[in-house]
Amino acid sequence: MSFDLVFFGGTGDLTWRKLMPALFQAWRHGKLPAHGRILAVARDDRDDAGYRAWLKDRLQEAESAKRPSEEEFARFSELIHYLRMDLSQPTDYQRLKEWLAARNADTVVIYLATSPHLFPSICEQLGACGLNHDRVRVVLEKPLGHDLASAQEINRVVRSVFSEQQALRIDHYLGKPSVQNLMALRFGNVLFEPLWRRESIANIQITLAESIGVGTRGDFYDRTGALRDMIQNHALQLLTMIAMEPPSSANADAIRDEKLKVLRSLKPFDAISVARDVVRGQYRAGNVEGHAAVGYIEENKVPPGSHTETFVALRCEIQNWRWAGVPFYLRTGKRLAQRQAEIVVNFKATPHPIFPGPNAANKLVIKLQPEDGLELQLLAAKGTSSGAEHEALSPVSLDLDFDKAFPTNRVGAYERMLLDALAGRLNLFVRSDEQEQAWRWVEPILEAWSAQPNGLRPYAAGTWGPPAASALVARDGFAWAEEEC
Ligand code: BG6
Repeated sequence: MSFDLVFFGGTGDLTWRKLMPALFQAWRHGKLPAHGRILAVARDDRDDAGYRAWLKDRLQEAESAKRPSEEEFARFSELIHYLRMDLSQPTDYQRLKEWLAARNADTVVIYLATSPHLFPSICEQLGACGLNHDRVRVVLEKPLGHDLASAQEINRVVRSVFSEQQALRIDHYLGKPSVQNLMALRFGNVLFEPLWRRESIANIQITLAESIGVGTRGDFYDRTGALRDMIQNHALQLLTMIAMEPPSSANADAIRDEKLKVLRSLKPFDAISVARDVVRGQYRAGNVEGHAAVGYIEENKVPPGSHTETFVALRCEIQNWRWAGVPFYLRTGKRLAQRQAEIVVNFKATPHPIFPGPNAANKLVIKLQPEDGLELQLLAAKGTSSGAEHEALSPVSLDLDFDKAFPTNRVGAYERMLLDALAGRLNLFVRSDEQEQAWRWVEPILEAWSAQPNGLRPYAAGTWGPPAASALVARDGFAWAEEEC
């Protein structure tokens, strides 16, 4: 299969920090199909050699195991080309069309790594010059819109040019190997399915914690906030994977239909439940992993007095037979105590305790990052009791580290998504109805917040967020994983 992969936003952060390194790894591991060309499109005046030299420097910033050697970069960069384009100029799209026509590749993937407000006009221009034929696919980076209406408008324009099969909405969390393993765990094994329901599960917690602050993205982040940046997409996508019914096949639409049903079953928020069940916070100066960190409003490009949230914790419920009454807690934040993404499934305690000591419960921890693994916490007898008829049980873990179990050539999230986009595998891309339903669900939270702009709770950088987040879970008699004794 021959391919052309085009990056709009070819000099942007996403391209050099994530996309090009991922492509380089795919090439290094021999996973990139042969006969391909990669085209970076941007406004600057450069030629192929100039872009390659610029990219070479950028790729040196990767961690050492992922940095190309001189010889590797020389070979990899033969695939890479550059085209200067002004995205508002129809004639520049004609030049792109001519560049692509010179090869007439079997597959053309056009990745829009630009600001999303440009998506509609780019798609219209691509359509106008005939770059929407059935060998073309377009990849749309998040955030897709900033509310339901803007997402619907982007989707309306995209749909007028491309079919649903051609428009791939990316959520890179779905490409993480651990998220793939979540599907495997649930639907490739018989063990957990009978327990995966309200009768056995007390609550489920999804934590996407970051220790970094907003870095150089202060202006983008301030317009966005944690709810739009992480909850509307990454956290809700993980929730659908945890809560969905078994799909009838691994076919993309069979999976996406089930995910959509979960989103539709989420109990809607109103102003009262937002005030009760959603906590928003903003970091103040503190100390993160041994380093002093400034507060959010002192960050570069953040306006003084900003009310943007850098932390959200919320409690939600899924209204169906499987999950009725089971609280799901979602939490994300910047400048938290550590980088940690995990899903914790807390099982109920045994109905009739026969051992002395607290009647603790089983717990399954699905670790997304930094480790990629599974930990099943069980209770066991140490066998060291002296004289007592029954000793109290002790918690013990079955621990699985996927990087050790499968040590070679595991594919990272963006690498996986790019390879899937080239191959036309749609399972891991978000369908427009899922994405719109997620906006529909978060919108009452946004509305309630704009009516009450002063509800932000401060937290010190390097902590786990405002105390109200702990109170949210404690109210139901539970605790976040790191608070359990
Ligand atoms: C992005 C958000 O989608 O995900 C960023 O815009 C966030 O703010 C990033 O830092 C986190 O991704 P990961 O893969 O590093 O957890």
